[in-house]
Amino acid sequence: MDVQAPLNSTDLFSAKGLVVVITGGGSGIGLAYASTLYQNGAAKIYILGRRQNVLEDAIKTVEASPSAPQKASHVLEAIACDVIDRASVASAVEKITKDTGYVDVLINNAGILGPTNGGDLYKATSIEQVRDAMLQGFGEGGWDAAMRINTQAVVGVSAAFLPLLDAANARRGWASGKVEGEGNPRAQDTSALEKIGADKDDDRMAQIITTASVASFMRYVTAGLAYNASKSAAAQLGKILASVLAPWGVRSNVVAPGPYPSEMTKSRDPRFGTGQVPQGRMGGVNDVAGLLLFLVGKGGAYVNGTVQVTDGGRMGVFPGTY
Ligand SMILES: NC(=O)c1ccc[n+]([C@@H]2O[C@H](COP(=O)([O-])OP(=O)(O)OC[C@H]3O[C@@H](n4cnc5c(N)ncnc54)[C@H](OP(=O)(O)O)[C@@H]3O)[C@@H](O)[C@H]2O)c1
Repeated sequence: MDVQAPLNSTDLFSAKGLVVVITGGGSGIGLAYASTLYQNGAAKIYILGRRQNVLEDAIKTVEASPSAPQKASHVLEAIACDVIDRASVASAVEKITKDTGYVDVLINNAGILGPTNGGDLYKATSIEQVRDAMLQGFGEGGWDAAMRINTQAVVGVSAAFLPLLDAANARRGWASGKVEGEGNPRAQDTSALEKIGADKDDDRMAQIITTASVASFMRYVTAGLAYNASKSAAAQLGKILASVLAPWGVRSNVVAPGPYPSEMTKSRDPRFGTGQVPQGRMGGVNDVAGLLLFLVGKGGAYVNGTVQVTDGGRMGVFPGTY
C-alpha cells in the first residue's frame, strides 16, 4: 500500500459525477439520500415513486437547501413509477437509457409497513387474541403488498436496471460480460477514467444498495410480522445479489436502518430510552449522509455483499439474529 498517496476525505467520500436511481426517493430516507447526493456532486439523481407531486415537491425542497449547489440544474429528476408494476419499471429504464445511458448506483429503497399487528401481538391477554393478531392483514393489500413492494421489487427492479449498471462499468473502462474463475480479475482500461474526469485510482464497480431494516434481524415485532418477514427477505436478497452478480461486476450492499423520521414513522414517539435505542434518538440526515457517501464513494469501492447497520445500537438491545 502506498501510504503516501493522497487520502483526502472529499475524494474518498464523494458522489461526484455519479448517476443514481432511488426508488421511494420522494420522502423520508430516500429523500435524505437524494439530498446527500445532490450536495455532493452527483451528475444525475432520478427519484422514483408513485406520487408525482410528492417527487416534484421533494426536488423543490432539496434544491432550495442553502447548502445545495446554487446554480439551476436538472440534476434531480422525478419519474412516476410503481416498483411492483413491470411495465412501469421498464418505462423508467427506457427513459433513463435514452437520457444518460448508464446508472452507477441503484438504490432499492421503496417500502411500506404492511399490516401493523405488532402492538396487538404483545397486548394480547388470551391465546385467541394472539391468534387474531397474527391473522391481521391476510386480506388483499396486506401481506401480499408488503411482500411485493419490500421484497419482490428488490429482484424486479434490480433485474430491470442490470444493463444500465453494466453500461456504467463499461464507461469506467471495465471489461463487460461474465468473468469467472480464480486468478482471473476483471480488466479495467484506466484510460477511460481520464475521459470521464474520474481519478485514475477510481476502481468502483456499479452498485445496488437495498434499504432493508433492523426489522430484518430483530425477533421483536415493532410494526408487523409481514414487515419483519419482507425486510428479512430483502436483506437476504441484497446479499444473494452480491454473490449472483459477482461474475458480472455489479456490487450489492444492504443498509439496515433503525428508526428514522419519515412518512412511515410519523406517528411514532421520537424519544427512545436506552433499552430501545442506546443513542437515545432517531437517525438523522448526518447518519444517512455519512453512510451513503462511504458506500458510493471511492473509499467504499471494496465494500460488497455487506449489511450496514445504522440504528444507534437498537439491534443490540433486542433479541435478534444478525
Ligand atoms: N423510517 C424508518 O424508521 C425505517 C427503518 C428501517 C427501514 N426503513 C426502510 O426505509 C425505506 C424508506 O422508508 P421511509 O422510512 O423513508 O418511509 P417513507 O417516507 O414512507 O418512504 C417510502 C417511499 O417508498 C415509496 N413507495 C412505496 N411503495 C412504492 C411503490 N409500489 N412503488 C414506488 N415507490 C413506492 C413511497 O412513495 P409513493 O407512496 O409515492 O410511491 C415513499 O416515498 C423503506 O424501505 C423502509 O422499509 C425505514
